[in-house]
Amino acid sequence: MAAANATGAIFKRHFSVTSLNNIIQNVTVIGGGLMGSGIAQVAAQSGNTVTLVEVDADRLKKTESSITNSLTRVGKKLYKDDPGAIKQFLEETRNRIRGTTDLKEAVKDSDLVVEAVVENLKVKHELFKTIDEVAPQKTLFASNTSSLSIGEIAAVTNRKDRFGGLHFFNPVAVMKLLEVIRIPETSDETYEALMAWGKAIGKVCVTCKDTPGFVVNRLLIPYLAEAARLLDRGDASARDIDTAMKLGAGHPMGPFELMDYTGLDTAVFILDGWYQKTQDPLFKVSEAVKKLVAEGKLGVKTGEGFYRYNKNKL
Ligand code: CAA
Ligand code: NAD
Repeated sequence: MAAANATGAIFKRHFSVTSLNNIIQNVTVIGGGLMGSGIAQVAAQSGNTVTLVEVDADRLKKTESSITNSLTRVGKKLYKDDPGAIKQFLEETRNRIRGTTDLKEAVKDSDLVVEAVVENLKVKHELFKTIDEVAPQKTLFASNTSSLSIGEIAAVTNRKDRFGGLHFFNPVAVMKLLEVIRIPETSDETYEALMAWGKAIGKVCVTCKDTPGFVVNRLLIPYLAEAARLLDRGDASARDIDTAMKLGAGHPMGPFELMDYTGLDTAVFILDGWYQKTQDPLFKVSEAVKKLVAEGKLGVKTGEGFYRYNKNKL
């Protein structure tokens, strides 16, 4: 009974906000990697019914396990001394998430689709073209892209008025920020619904125009790239640069720890894309990062990047 009350209190809090925004109840998340799994989790924690799309059963299984790991951490924080409440929280949240590989079926009753697949315009275009044909009129589309233009992604759809950017941060369960991006065609109703949904799932929303990297990545990515160039030049070791930024600038992670955490492949996708567009040396990918990516060492998600990780702890 105590467990039910504790869980009920949490959901009551979320539901009271969600009710402001009752147009978004069914959410489809496409891509269940680092970001998609977190987005699905926070939506389900807030009472949304979530359908998560992945490419195959193996990936779905991995997504399920990372959601369970993260939910367990959240549950332990919420209900420290009450294993029954943790179990109930886990079960109730997981029951709101359904995994599938059937993209078209996954959007058929969706209020909001959040896309979180690889940072590649061609892949995102293919996906949005497909779902634009089958999703109902009411469905809002959003991309979690880190660096691509929301307008360019939306260009292949016939619903630019119902399209926006929802840029989450890793780890989604912990990071409080959500950048909400509107393109000139985004309607006021869509923008307001995206902002209200962001608040309903517990995020603090900021708005930015559709500019490369929005706010956070426009500042963060050049900093990460410069840290890697510092390493390329042999000015300091990765460990010392990380220590310096943690102890000298108060960052929770140093730049190499952070690149490993967000994925070195994602860093390269972002930097390469911006470099090709602007030829700005600020965005040149460092030799150290290129080498690691070529070797398949993408950071925490593959067990090795600048540092080695215990795979059992991922
Ligand atoms: N799921 C749920 N909870 C988690 C979690 C996860 N995946 N990861 C950490 N937590 C919780 C832990 O349970 C812990 O909770 P308590 O405080 O209640 O114990 C808390 O978060 C802190 O975790 P840890 O003690 O394990 O470790 P930490 O203090 O070093 O914090 C961190 C971990 C929150 C990741 C912190 O190191 C941090 O903020 N790092 C920087 C992350 C960052 O900058 N993210 C943005 C990247 S850029 C981006 O995402 C945009 C892009 O487009 C690339
Ligand atoms: P990831 O590599 O961890 O996950 C991508 C997932 O998408 C993979 O599991 C893959 O199987 C799946 N996928 C690929 N094509 C698919 C398709 N057609 N249908 C369904 N699933 C498909 O990548 P990530 O780090 O989660 O990044 C996803 C997006 O979020 C990218 O646009 C990235 O730029 C952005 N982003 C990343 C971070 C970060 O810190 N990593 C932060 C914010 C935004």
